Amino acid sequence: MITKETIDRIFEAIRIEDVVGEFVQLKKRGVNFLGLCPFHNEKTPSFNVNPVRNIYKCFGCGKGGNAVNFIMELEHYSYPEALKFLAGKYQIEIEESAPDPKELELRDERESLYILNTYAQKYFSENLFENEEGKSIGLSYFRERGFTDDTIRKFELGYSLQDWSAFSENAIKNGYKSEFIVKTGLGYPRQKDNEASSTEKLIDRFRGRVMFPVHNLSGRIIAFGGRILKKDEKAAKYVNSPESDIYSKSKSLYGIFYAKKSIVQKENCFLVEGYTDVISMHQSGIENVVASSGTSLTVEQIRLIGRYTKNVTVLYDGDAAGIKASIRGIDLILEEGLNVKVVLFPDGDDPDSYSRKHGGAATATFIQENAKDFIVFKTSLLLADVANDPVRKAGLIREIVESIAKIPDPITRSVYLKQSSAMMDIEEQVLIGELNKSRKQLLKKEHAPSDIEELLPEIILGRDKQLDPFTTEIHERNIVRLLLNFGDHDLHFDNEIDDEKAQGGKRNQVIAVKVARFIIDEMITDELSFSNATYHYFLTEYTRFIHEQLQIDSNIFIRSENPEVSKTYVELLSLPYFISKNWEEMHKIKVPNEESILMDAVQKAVTHLKTRKVMMMLEESSRMIKDAHEKGQDFIPLLEKHLKLEELKIELSKELGIDILR
Ligand code: CTP
Ligand code: MN
Repeated sequence: MITKETIDRIFEAIRIEDVVGEFVQLKKRGVNFLGLCPFHNEKTPSFNVNPVRNIYKCFGCGKGGNAVNFIMELEHYSYPEALKFLAGKYQIEIEESAPDPKELELRDERESLYILNTYAQKYFSENLFENEEGKSIGLSYFRERGFTDDTIRKFELGYSLQDWSAFSENAIKNGYKSEFIVKTGLGYPRQKDNEASSTEKLIDRFRGRVMFPVHNLSGRIIAFGGRILKKDEKAAKYVNSPESDIYSKSKSLYGIFYAKKSIVQKENCFLVEGYTDVISMHQSGIENVVASSGTSLTVEQIRLIGRYTKNVTVLYDGDAAGIKASIRGIDLILEEGLNVKVVLFPDGDDPDSYSRKHGGAATATFIQENAKDFIVFKTSLLLADVANDPVRKAGLIREIVESIAKIPDPITRSVYLKQSSAMMDIEEQVLIGELNKSRKQLLKKEHAPSDIEELLPEIILGRDKQLDPFTTEIHERNIVRLLLNFGDHDLHFDNEIDDEKAQGGKRNQVIAVKVARFIIDEMITDELSFSNATYHYFLTEYTRFIHEQLQIDSNIFIRSENPEVSKTYVELLSLPYFISKNWEEMHKIKVPNEESILMDAVQKAVTHLKTRKVMMMLEESSRMIKDAHEKGQDFIPLLEKHLKLEELKIELSKELGIDILR
């Protein structure tokens, strides 16, 4: 662990504008700096750097934090990695205290797997270039495929000998533990369920195959794919490393390390099927390309791309069966809010063969000229199937509309609607009707009606996460937002006090209560707590401030050793510019700054949380009643409790002035 003193020294040295300035071109704007956000695509700058608070915040995508968060987010570093990077920049020596042994063990184990993979890659590459078998079989295969030696070295390709255990034996002889050989999957024990005992011989997983190392974002080798060379064998064409502590197939994309820079530059990512497609495209000069490696696309993979660009072009060979199978994956890209285009290569060609035959420039032109919008593509593909069958056509319309309904952006939705209306020869109005039905269903699934109000700012800022109607997180977030922004504002309450001299023995007195105090008291009185750990931390700290009558110190949040805390802190902070630009100008919404509005906002925030809790309790109680009923037990006491909760719900809903009855 990096010591607290070192961390403090790093934070004292940091100047946010220097750190960000290394990656983003910044222009001075008053006391702040402004630039193009590196976390989302934009043409006009909305990425704000505030040197006084030492924070950054994007008014477009909502991301924000301190310099450490920035480096973590941008370089995909862990917290200590980011600290080390910054220490290096400011020439601060790192002191590390002895880490917790458990953590050390885990870190050491992961590290051991990486080191072994690197060793294996070097070994396989050496086979390819130095070993007789490797040269005559592996290297000649790659060369026949048209890979240059530069390409082979760049992608660190290799060859695994046909011998049963050449690699495993070599690795063990060189001091690598068989435990790690098994964990990386490079070798496996002869008897299946036998744990790797040190005496037992291991079998090489990839024997007789050419090797493709798989790199993570920072270029470390997390896995291998091995391609067989002999034809008509029963063995699979490719063998891949099994899942391990450092490799999860569904979360990685082949080629991302080599592609990420070019993806950002080109503002587009080409998605292909295989290792060889990525490599050949690179060799022809097209570098913004990654492969899903034969599996169907996952949400994690799409989000990985989404960190670099919002535009994906899927490149497939022209066989129809493959296309239909992949349509679901492409729908998923739309759902994640990315723009998708599809390019089909002429029959028999894939990106690999096409780019080798025609070269990079012609391939780029071909892609540009043949990229079809996915919805248009899907419509024409399915339309061809349906021909003149009206029943099947109706089904098709529904399917297309459902795809369009999933697109988060309303403008994009309406463009697609127009296009498909023309293509399917259906009146747009009919499609709009269908679309609205689908949207309503989707929205209903995502949010209970009472959420809409608080969700508004989140929706506006495009941070409309999929929300489970039975979590309280959105309300917790809102309360923390109020605490952070308005915690030390006064709310004034009328209070009746005894006064002998006054008429009727009582008089009114106005008392001032701080927003933070009000919220904390409400939470304590009703024994409410937060389920989200980060929000809970804010609440606890505020409770401590209030109880110990301390000044609220935002430094402990901004410099927190938990990066979630500092990030959340900045993200929830409303800076004046942020408010005026996004809310007032664009949406004509007044922000709660007047006390009366603030009072209302605070009370509602707490009431919303209570309501949601009550609803969750109701849900639980229904389940218990049903359960008791089925088991023939006495459920009357449960029912009575249930009715009390119902009453409470109605009372709360009156306070909110919204009909939340479901
Ligand atoms: N794949 C796999 N296991 C298989 C077959 C395929 O993991 N048994 C993955 C590989 O990542 C492969 C991709 O799916 O790269 C695409 O498969 P395919 O088109 O068959 O392979 P290519 O990479 O095109 O290989 P080649 O051109 O050498 O046939
Ligand atoms: Mn191929």
